[in-house]
Amino acid sequence: MTDLSPIDRAKRAAARAAAAHVEPGMRVGLGTGSTAAFLVHRLGERLREEGLRITAVPTSERTAELARAEGIEIVTLGQAGWLDLTIDGADEVDGELNLIKGGGGALLREKIVATASDRVVIIADRAKKVGVLGAFPLPVEVIPFGWEVTRKLIEDLLAGLDVQGRGTVLRMRDGGPFVTDQGNHIIDLHLQRIGDARQLALLLNQIPGVVENGLFLDICDTLILGAEDESVEVTDLSQVPDAAPVTAVDNIFSEVSD
Ligand code: A5P
Repeated sequence: MTDLSPIDRAKRAAARAAAAHVEPGMRVGLGTGSTAAFLVHRLGERLREEGLRITAVPTSERTAELARAEGIEIVTLGQAGWLDLTIDGADEVDGELNLIKGGGGALLREKIVATASDRVVIIADRAKKVGVLGAFPLPVEVIPFGWEVTRKLIEDLLAGLDVQGRGTVLRMRDGGPFVTDQGNHIIDLHLQRIGDARQLALLLNQIPGVVENGLFLDICDTLILGAEDESVEVTDLSQVPDAAPVTAVDNIFSEVSD
């Protein structure tokens, strides 16, 4: 694979570094997107080369297909019960390891799977690192019923919040609204700069037609950024002085796994 583009070399480097965190017998959440695809491929290689055995929960039908093709055993999240590790990509990441995700439309399953994991490793090319979240349009998954009204409520909400842009766009695919794996639509919010991501995430999810938003806050434990020269930079949450834990417990839902 010498003909990879520079950006793909960076993605692959991050994915390969993350694959090294996977140990035999682990229950692993598999993310969605082009970077996660490199991860799934690498895990397939480890399966063939080392006999690595894991059970995996994919975050999309696309990833499930890739994992099956690599011979990786797939189970449902219910069958897994809880996950040791999830590895996923991101569209943007800030200095506190908060993320925008959902560019590929899989944000709902991605957030469910990440939340059900002891540890979350995010992989990306280093161009995804930003000072402030928001240049990448924020995906919001909404149910199709009354989506126009949901959009209006989102716009009303944005009017009173600290964001730079307020455009909202229904994501389209093949001439119709994009449909997620859950049968929902996505409204992309063109905010340019998000002043208070915590407030925005909380308020968006108060709107009845909103299923979930693409802000992944306090979810990433380790960030692996790849560069074009195939080097990687690894940042653990413990190295981020400004990260504001919601509670003393890393994952407030982790007791559910007991
Ligand atoms: C999928 O819904 C997204 O959250 C992806 O993780 C994100 O879009 C990153 O995709 P790439 O790895 O293709 O950049």
